[in-house]
Amino acid sequence: MGQDLLASLLSAAPLPAVHVQRDERVAFVNDGAMRLFGQGIIGRHYITVFRQPNLLDCVEAALRDRQVSSGQFLTSDAGREVTYRVVAAPVEGAGQQGVVVYLEDMTHMQDAVQMRRDFIANVSHELKTPLTALTGFIETLRGPAREDAAARERFLEIMDHEARRMNRLVQDLLSLSRVESEERMRPTDTVDLGALIERTVLSLQPLIDGAGSRVEIAGAAPGFEVTGDADQLLQVFSNLIENAVKYGGDLVTITVSARDYDGSIRGPAARIDVTDNGEGIDELHLPRLMERFYRIDGHRSREMGGTGLGLAIVKHIVNRHRGRVRVESEKGRGSVFSVVLPLI
Ligand SMILES: Nc1ncnc2c1ncn2[C@@H]1O[C@H](COP(=O)(O)OP(=O)(O)OP(=O)(O)O)[C@@H](O)[C@H]1O
Ligand SMILES: [Mg+2]
Repeated sequence: MGQDLLASLLSAAPLPAVHVQRDERVAFVNDGAMRLFGQGIIGRHYITVFRQPNLLDCVEAALRDRQVSSGQFLTSDAGREVTYRVVAAPVEGAGQQGVVVYLEDMTHMQDAVQMRRDFIANVSHELKTPLTALTGFIETLRGPAREDAAARERFLEIMDHEARRMNRLVQDLLSLSRVESEERMRPTDTVDLGALIERTVLSLQPLIDGAGSRVEIAGAAPGFEVTGDADQLLQVFSNLIENAVKYGGDLVTITVSARDYDGSIRGPAARIDVTDNGEGIDELHLPRLMERFYRIDGHRSREMGGTGLGLAIVKHIVNRHRGRVRVESEKGRGSVFSVVLPLI
């Protein structure tokens, strides 16, 4: 293979790549690798370019043994540690013996591993709290409170509350994993949005009355239809309205509108705004609000039986519908949670 062909292949490679010749000098470097190792490295000995022992060992082994060798290269980007997996592969042909070194950014994979770890830690913690309460009360009921009818009643009440909380958490986890696994399957039912929202509000009426709130629906003409999964969309609006009632003030307005074109989905859309007049959400929380288990006030959410999974479920369901969720909020002035669903 000629140097020109090798150079154009490496230039087109989606990974940073460096060609080290048999004389151990750098013969070619593509743009990605230039960003990592700097300019002016052509013609230099690879030892003065790569510097890190693990990467040097890897290149040395490939040059010596004429076999693929792998290793690691660590660097930092904007204050963040970045790990590259390195593969050094021998190249042969027309005086071009040497090795090509590829570097693959492992950040995404590491982030995914970290997210999984955090998720498991969160689930364990959320399950452990009610479980600890339950085992504590069982012990008390068997011991000191054995003959105390009033205490027994009170403890059973709390145990019931904690068991329900665990049950809700498990239900939400199952729901989340089901929605995630179906995310690539487009829903096909025809759903009457107005009727669905009215049904949702009706099912939440006890909660709404209990909180002394009022929910008003505007703009949902009967027969306003979208393609969707009725059960899942009900879950979306339930979550949003429930949040607006729990964390909002005393008035929730739901506005349904049709738009010929919505920039966020680049086409005709139905937009549903759930507006509350509550305390609002500080800007600093907005980017993370849809993450699993993210809560502004964890204690308050748990007190109200929340699992912190509601908005994560909402986001996944709306993704499945190829739609968007947007939050606009200002501290002290209430929040608007908007769902945009494509109309075709
Ligand atoms: N309308 C709102 N106004 C103010 N804060 C809100 C609003 N909606 C959500 N939040 C905040 O976002 C957090 C995450 O909401 P999410 O629905 O995911 O969980 P949750 O309501 O705590 O639990 P669950 O939905 O399982 O009952 C809430 O704990 C709350 O702090
Ligand atoms: Mg919620």
